[in-house]
Amino acid sequence: MKTIFSGIQPSGTITLGNYIGAMKQFVELQNEYQCYFCIVDQHAITVPQDRLELRKNIRSLAALYIACGIDPEKATLFIQSEVPAHAQAGWMMQCISYIGELERMTQFKDKSAGKDAVSAALLTYPPLMVADILLYSTDLVPVGEDQKQHIELTRDLAERFNNKYNDIFKIPEIRLPQVGARIMSLQEPNKKMSKSDPNTKATITLLDDPKQIEKKIKSAVTDSEGIVKYDKENKPGISNLLSVYSIFTGRSISDIEQEYVGKGYGDFKGDLAQVVIRELEPIQKKYHELMESSELDEILDQGAQKANAVANKMLKKMENAMGLGRKRK
Ligand code: AQP
Repeated sequence: MKTIFSGIQPSGTITLGNYIGAMKQFVELQNEYQCYFCIVDQHAITVPQDRLELRKNIRSLAALYIACGIDPEKATLFIQSEVPAHAQAGWMMQCISYIGELERMTQFKDKSAGKDAVSAALLTYPPLMVADILLYSTDLVPVGEDQKQHIELTRDLAERFNNKYNDIFKIPEIRLPQVGARIMSLQEPNKKMSKSDPNTKATITLLDDPKQIEKKIKSAVTDSEGIVKYDKENKPGISNLLSVYSIFTGRSISDIEQEYVGKGYGDFKGDLAQVVIRELEPIQKKYHELMESSELDEILDQGAQKANAVANKMLKKMENAMGLGRKRK
């Protein structure tokens, strides 16, 4: 069986973007692959986090993984900081990275733009992500489009390490969803939807209630033309909403366009809100049940145990290859 690794940061409640770009793929793939899904809390602290809020988000993200359909019998679900090999291997990958290539990462540029001071870790986050992936001899990394550059770096660093030290890493491939690889902000449709966006009107989170969902979709920025038509260049707002509608109903974009010929954005947005509410309802129900049970801790304990066993083996190979410490088997 081939192996999958992917992670989500507990940097807020996950949005429709994270759900469509990442989580939905995870659920589909867990039957065909050996899967490792991670709550990447060490990535989240590359920007300031409130301690209590972070703890809450970690637990909430774990519950959302399961509520969305991740089966802990099939997939290993764990918290990054509970598997110390990630930080150790991340340091080694930093040592073979060049500052120039890290400064070229668009996510670093976006998150540091306009800030007087950013953490050094914001720059060195990608080598940690590289380590996350390589520790599990990953074949495939399902992610949204914004992570494409980081996966390319993963491939480059794996090859660099293999050539320089010892041929121990598999070179992983990226897997993007066919539709919805980049869900856009509801308020700035040329910018991707992000869970840490301070403008709460820009995102729909998986825990928004029906009223909030309706309100956010109704106030989503579109255009003045009033025609429900997919045109990403000229009508990014309505195109983004059409993508979400199509993904959640399984209907083609052209079929949906046909249905709204002669109707305005108001009708379309009202129906879309109902589609999103219907999709999220069972997830939210399961989420609330899980948050009140002890099941979650058992799942995370078992996940950490399994992940530690696999990651520590690769860590030893890396240390041997680089000559760290004493030779061990
Ligand atoms: N808008 C998006 N559309 C499709 N996929 C997306 N992803 C993120 N935003 C979108 C995918 O979600 C997964 C988890 O992402 P992450 O938490 O590791 O970090 P991120 O990519 O930086 O996501 P956010 O929501 O923008 O988080 P913050 O605000 O903390 O930076 C990844 O597979 C990502 O591609």
